[in-house]
Amino acid sequence: MAAFANPFQEKNDRKLSTAELIQALRVDIAGELEAIYLYDAHVRATDNEMAKKVLADIRDEERAHVGELTTLLRKLDPKEADLFASGEAEVREMLGDDKGAAPAEGTATVGSLIDHS
Ligand SMILES: [Fe+2]
Repeated sequence: MAAFANPFQEKNDRKLSTAELIQALRVDIAGELEAIYLYDAHVRATDNEMAKKVLADIRDEERAHVGELTTLLRKLDPKEADLFASGEAEVREMLGDDKGAAPAEGTATVGSLIDHS
């Protein structure tokens, strides 16, 4: 699993503060990303089509979980959401993929750079 320290090893009789919850979500997201990596490695490592199909489906469910968790993180931490948006806009601009502007001929889009194999 993720190499982050586990902040929940001790019994805790109180609820998380918002700041602690945000940190917990980061750990959760890291766990989902690691799960995606591992399931994908297993898909690539076997020729068993049944296993490939099931593991790929689970991997993609983990991808959806990353989306759910990052959306929740953005809601809980608007400053971080602004920084995420800033980084996304920077890359879109770099690739000529910003909203309303068509990519220049021969310019890669964010989606085209993702390995979907
Ligand atoms: Fe998950």
